Amino acid sequence: MAGKVPDDLLRVSDVDPQTLTELLDLAEGMKQEPLGWERDLRGGAIGCVFEKPSTRTRASLATAAHRLGMTALVLNREDLQLGHGETAGDTARVLSSYLDAITVRTFDHATVEEFADAATVPVVNALSNTHHPCQSLADLLALREHFGALAGLTVAFVGDGTSNTCNSFLAACAASGMHFVIAAPRGYETDEDILGEARELMVQSGGSVSLTTDPVEAVSAAQAVYAEVWVPMDRHDERARRAKDLAAYRVDDALLSHAPREAMAMHCLPAVRGQEISSEVLDGPRSLVWQQAANRLPTAQALLHTLITTDRRRTT
Ligand code: CP
Repeated sequence: MAGKVPDDLLRVSDVDPQTLTELLDLAEGMKQEPLGWERDLRGGAIGCVFEKPSTRTRASLATAAHRLGMTALVLNREDLQLGHGETAGDTARVLSSYLDAITVRTFDHATVEEFADAATVPVVNALSNTHHPCQSLADLLALREHFGALAGLTVAFVGDGTSNTCNSFLAACAASGMHFVIAAPRGYETDEDILGEARELMVQSGGSVSLTTDPVEAVSAAQAVYAEVWVPMDRHDERARRAKDLAAYRVDDALLSHAPREAMAMHCLPAVRGQEISSEVLDGPRSLVWQQAANRLPTAQALLHTLITTDRRRTT
């Protein structure tokens, strides 16, 4: 890789724009030839330390490891001493002596940082409350496959502008020279630091970010309209309030009728059908959602291969 590969991937901004592009290129190659990289890491192992439920992230990481000749240990919090008082740092230090990489799905982003600080192997953020970089890789790949190029595309993110998916995809689009419009109601605005980081990247890439409370305005020039679940996994007590606050931000045929004809709908899944996205859109011809989900596998494979082979070169 010509770009600088980071030790860990905790947030999208850990990778420079060139490395991001090269990860997508490698993922495309791996999609064409899934077992073509089976030998480099044969006999290795990754850990999937998961403190929250997961379908796509866990299954794609485990399958990616398998396709790279490695095994994957799924380590749920309650089955680990981590769930019974051992620190994240001590867990990371010990797991580093068995594993070639540690993937972590957790609540507080500081936990994945604690893993990375103590681990001597690459750590991958498999979702924290503020970042979801693995999802963004798959999303970029789906957009690039569909539109042919990323620079200059406009994405409208409609709904909760504070979500981890929004934060990470904003950074990914910023690095790729895209225009990002966030339509969120008051009280759901994206963090100023996240916006500031994106704007800095956009000075180099030529992208832009803009904010509105109006979903129709947001989608009016968008090639992609991104919906995200309204109630995060650990916020079920906010279900009623969020459903009320975000009711005008559903991605459905009515909203897409205000977007350009080529606009595609995106969602990271799992979806609450009929809430943040309609079934007609999710299952319809303008859905990029299933391609995003499928792309979790080759992008996970590219990420693991890149981080682990780079780490091995650095430590030998
Ligand atoms: N999109 C995503 O991260 O899905 P899972 O929660 O099923 O892993």
